[in-house]
Amino acid sequence: MASASSSAPGTTKYEGHGVAPLRAGEGISFTLRRLHSLTGIIPVGAFLFEHILISNTTAISGPGAYGRQVSFLANLPLVFLLELFGIWVPIAYHALYGFYIWYRGEGNVSSYAWTGNWMYTAQRWTGGIAFAYIVWHVTTMRFLGIDLHQHPFDSFGKVQTEVLQPLYFLFYIVGLIAASWHFAYGIWLFTAKWGIVSGEKAQKRFLALCLVFFFVLTGAGLASLTAFRSRPQQPFDSGPMNDRNITQVR
Ligand code: HEM
Repeated sequence: MASASSSAPGTTKYEGHGVAPLRAGEGISFTLRRLHSLTGIIPVGAFLFEHILISNTTAISGPGAYGRQVSFLANLPLVFLLELFGIWVPIAYHALYGFYIWYRGEGNVSSYAWTGNWMYTAQRWTGGIAFAYIVWHVTTMRFLGIDLHQHPFDSFGKVQTEVLQPLYFLFYIVGLIAASWHFAYGIWLFTAKWGIVSGEKAQKRFLALCLVFFFVLTGAGLASLTAFRSRPQQPFDSGPMNDRNITQVR
């Protein structure tokens, strides 16, 4: 039977199986923890789902399809505000508060119970690796080289140039695996903490489902990366003319 007993003023030590549920009554830190937990799913997790399973898989259909998808996203109404409040602010909050949780050693190791201490450690390290990858990926894709919002049909070539370099390719794979694991196991953590899936048996079954989801995410990501490597190098820095000449690279 799960129980929670006081271990230090303002904190609770969980002594049951699985992950300690989030409990009210711990003031501002309770709210911040809930917000950290929630942002991991919505909108950060939802964005990762879209990015890996929907947008990036269009690369499998070729440069034209990929360009159209990037063009669609870049032309969404209020795209700046959508990105700011739908991605940048929530991911910055989740990451910074995640590092704080890590630094504080919060989320007591015993709380992870039968899922093992290494799951606890893996959740922190995969978050850290994903963070390093995201900073690098956003820097090179968004702030260096040609502006893909202005020239969406240069996207395939720009990504391809990185993916064709062995060390960058490796970093893409490491980033993909880290983010996929972090999100897949994070879904399990979320459902346990919010009491959505409770009971040892149900949690074990759901963990298996999350593992399947990890393989689906990783598999889709690897298929997209392979698509970039399997096509001849596409032009990507030819400026506005390239948008008009897209039929040549389909
Ligand atoms: C790829 C983007 C990311 C996604 C989709 C994501 C998603 C999630 C999800 C769904 C959870 C479970 C929520 C919960 O604990 O209830 C979680 C937990 C966690 N995340 Fe992230 N996250 C991301 C990036 C990061 C980064 C960059 C860090 C920085 C280290 C981080 C640190 C953490 C930590 C420490 C936990 C565990 C909290 C605990 O055990 O109580 N995450 N994440």
